[in-house]
Amino acid sequence: MKTVDDLGDLRGRRVLVRSDLNVPLQGASITDDGRIRASAPTIAELADRAARVVVCAHLGRPAGEPDPRYSLAPVARRLGEVLGRDVTFATDTVGESAKAIVEQLGDGEIALLENLRFNKGETSKHDAERGAFADQLAALAEAYVGDGFGAVHRKHASVYDVPQRLPHAAGALVLREIEVLRRLTEDPERPYVVVLGGSKVSDKLGVIDNLIGTVDRLLIGGGMVFTFLKARGHEVGKSLLEEDQLDAVRRYLEQAEAKGVEIVLPLDVVAATAFAEDAEHDVYDAAAIPADRIGLDIGPRSSALFADRLRDARTVFWNGPMGVFEMAPFAEGTRAVAQAITEVDGLTVVGGGDSAAAVRALGFDEQAFGHISTGGGASLEFLEGKELPGLTALEA
Ligand code: 3PG
Repeated sequence: MKTVDDLGDLRGRRVLVRSDLNVPLQGASITDDGRIRASAPTIAELADRAARVVVCAHLGRPAGEPDPRYSLAPVARRLGEVLGRDVTFATDTVGESAKAIVEQLGDGEIALLENLRFNKGETSKHDAERGAFADQLAALAEAYVGDGFGAVHRKHASVYDVPQRLPHAAGALVLREIEVLRRLTEDPERPYVVVLGGSKVSDKLGVIDNLIGTVDRLLIGGGMVFTFLKARGHEVGKSLLEEDQLDAVRRYLEQAEAKGVEIVLPLDVVAATAFAEDAEHDVYDAAAIPADRIGLDIGPRSSALFADRLRDARTVFWNGPMGVFEMAPFAEGTRAVAQAITEVDGLTVVGGGDSAAAVRALGFDEQAFGHISTGGGASLEFLEGKELPGLTALEA
């Protein structure tokens, strides 16, 4: 894969950088700027090389047309603060504003285009529609740097088609993510322990399938655990349950047993009367969740068990919170797992928007983890061994 060095002298050249600036917002305020901070070094490096830097990115999932709720304007402001440099914001993607701003950029100056997904061509399944948008984006620049690791699993115009139209290179963030995630797939030091959480089993099927062949231990929490508990024959009350995944989960449990992979499920659960921060809640045995309760976190005995099963690990990958960490009464399981991971003597990788956000929201020092990936779906698909369109395009 080519690096920015391979692009040669960038002075005065317009470089389009695809970053992943898809950060969580509450109104116009950014609740976690991790992806902005992770994207800044490549942008700064290009500016330092006197390129005219045109950053492009998506935010949320707007329906292919401008929607102020998904504007990147707040992100442009934060990016400017993080970089300590001016970032000029274009109010469209390939229209008059973008063209005029790109035209006026000086050497070492930076612009950010409005949300790419305000244009249907960005995410289109039709090659021609995507290609037409890619042509317009490519026309803004003379070179392309792919640095949006979190989006490399998307076959989108800015990720997949533009690099086919311009001299291209991978940015520092993409290179670092690949280097670390490769260490998880190629001969990881053992015991190799994976902690999976988050709400849906269906999002994790591919990775579970793949991991059963590679890991020593799989610790499962979060909303997805209730489908596992049910598959083991326990009632889960009103907790999240994916009935249609029960057979797949039973199959995984059998495969794991046959392969000697230890599957660790919670012993107890914090279950509440409603999905609300102030709902009445108690700790129940995982095999005895009352019919009218919703499980919202793993319980204290489970936290101790998970910490114990992480203690001797030499490689850890963690994706997905253990509970609804955004609500204080249901954050303890996630906190305990994060704490245990910080104490591991080996390579620890936090993957996924939610677990990365949880680590920061719960006040952990990011340096206490080996690597905090900016990729949610992208890091999971990488571990699944899937071909990632954004990386394929950068390799070409
Ligand atoms: C993410 O948040 O995982 C990436 O930014 C990709 O976003 P998407 O799932 O909306 O394509």
